[in-house]
Amino acid sequence: MQFLHMLPSPNLPKESVLEFSIKSGSLEKQRTACIVVGVYETRKFSLSAEILDHATQQSLAEVLGQGDMEGKAGSTLLLQKPSGARADRILLVGLGKEKEFDDKSYRSAISTAVKRLNEIGGSDGMLCLTELHVGKRDVAWKIRQAVIAAQEAIYRFDQLKSKPEETHRPLRKLIFHVASHGELATAETALTEGMAIAAGQSLAKDLGNLPGNICTPAHLADVARGLKRSHGLAVEILERTDMEKLGMNTLLSVARGSCQPPKFIVIQHKGGPKGTKPVVLIGKGITFDSGGISLKPGPEMDEMKYDMSGAASVLGTLRAAAELKLSLNVIGIIPATENMPGGAATKPGDIVTSMSGQTVEILNTDAEGRLVLCDALTYVERFDPDCVVDIATLTGACVIALGHMASGLLANDDSVAKELLDAGQEAGDRAWQLPLWDDYQEQLKSNFADMANIGGRPAGTITAACFLARFAKKYAWAHLDIAGTAWRSGKEKGSTGRPVPLLTHFLLERARRASKTSSRRKQS
Ligand code: BES
Ligand code: MN
Ligand code: ZN
Repeated sequence: MQFLHMLPSPNLPKESVLEFSIKSGSLEKQRTACIVVGVYETRKFSLSAEILDHATQQSLAEVLGQGDMEGKAGSTLLLQKPSGARADRILLVGLGKEKEFDDKSYRSAISTAVKRLNEIGGSDGMLCLTELHVGKRDVAWKIRQAVIAAQEAIYRFDQLKSKPEETHRPLRKLIFHVASHGELATAETALTEGMAIAAGQSLAKDLGNLPGNICTPAHLADVARGLKRSHGLAVEILERTDMEKLGMNTLLSVARGSCQPPKFIVIQHKGGPKGTKPVVLIGKGITFDSGGISLKPGPEMDEMKYDMSGAASVLGTLRAAAELKLSLNVIGIIPATENMPGGAATKPGDIVTSMSGQTVEILNTDAEGRLVLCDALTYVERFDPDCVVDIATLTGACVIALGHMASGLLANDDSVAKELLDAGQEAGDRAWQLPLWDDYQEQLKSNFADMANIGGRPAGTITAACFLARFAKKYAWAHLDIAGTAWRSGKEKGSTGRPVPLLTHFLLERARRASKTSSRRKQS
């Protein structure tokens, strides 16, 4: 374990975390290394820019008048030592056309500002961007999104480089300026939420980016144990022998080809009243997917280290739930194993009996995600769940259908599906629903077992979900296929930490609803 000393702890390394705070009060009096204000196209000031321009004897108008900046999205202009303001610098950030300013433009403006702040001298900066009109979004939304976008903008994964690339005085502290004193309380709550989501997302990113030789099933179990220490989550790890006793043969059939022992991780946040039904999140934890005997082609096979992104999102979301002390019971389940073509590996045509008793003919060992998930779906029946959501990089077909924008969503319960879709909208981490009609089940017919593990090329994402649905009949269930959203390939290759924001918003909304009904009950 020569890498042990550089493994990311679930308590993120200090230097990668920004410190955030909220302030209101007159802009010209703010002492900070840099104050950031927005300018729309063409050269239209935001409210804060207007105020600072006034305080600095129209110096902003002057530089804009010289043609130094148009206000185009992505552009910036730095003014040094503005007289009339106490800040050392003023950074103008282009916002693009005011009429077209939306969720996405807001997030990019934050990101541009933070990246620029990280290049200039100061260790702190004050952002005056939450005042901007972003459709009907409220201050809370703007603060949460700003924290997430800021953390995303400074995220780096250099723990495995022998000499981390030095940044010139990296930014340490970000202050969000809010327009009125009355908004402070709401903004503080939103700040806490945003920070918990951002930290959960960073954890998920780190885990996704770690290579398969470090991020093994045992490593995922260690991270879960770390969260027990740091966040008081209850953690239980089932070993191979435990899984054998439970009859988790489809899961074990995937683990057969690997030298790494499989782990079945159970991690719980017990925040809700005793006896209230839990929300269960199941994350696919294939720490490397070679395809097994149905070996994948060589090019880009390295990307299959991300095949545990569902598991990573479960750990990140549970971290956030615990940090926010959500008054909910949440259980995270991670079936973790490698999918390798070792001598004992499962062969195409092999038939195994799942924990549910249903038999599966494994026609393609590369369709392994559903094999580990189906036993997890059966295992969670014991919790009498309120609902179950599984998260998995399950099918290449989902990348073809939805690209990298939206996660695929399939569900046997429309109200849970709607909650997830809404949470995705709110979080800027969207999902899109596909049909889970019984008609597709025919494609899984096997001549030799209860079902085959593949359904042919048509509707690959749907038939994968249809397979899972056969194991999720006893409760409300939804499935998120994150094959396209969990990471980026190409030049910006790396994990995205999605769908931690979607899942955390989903839980936040459930916690809000639960607290409303319980206070109503107390009143009556
Ligand atoms: N982990 C892959 C899915 C995947 C592929 C995610 C590409 C991201 C990018 C999964 O285990 C897999 O191999 N699925 C097969 C299923 C097929 C054999 C029915 C696929 O999508 O090709
Ligand atoms: Mn596979
Ligand atoms: Zn896979």
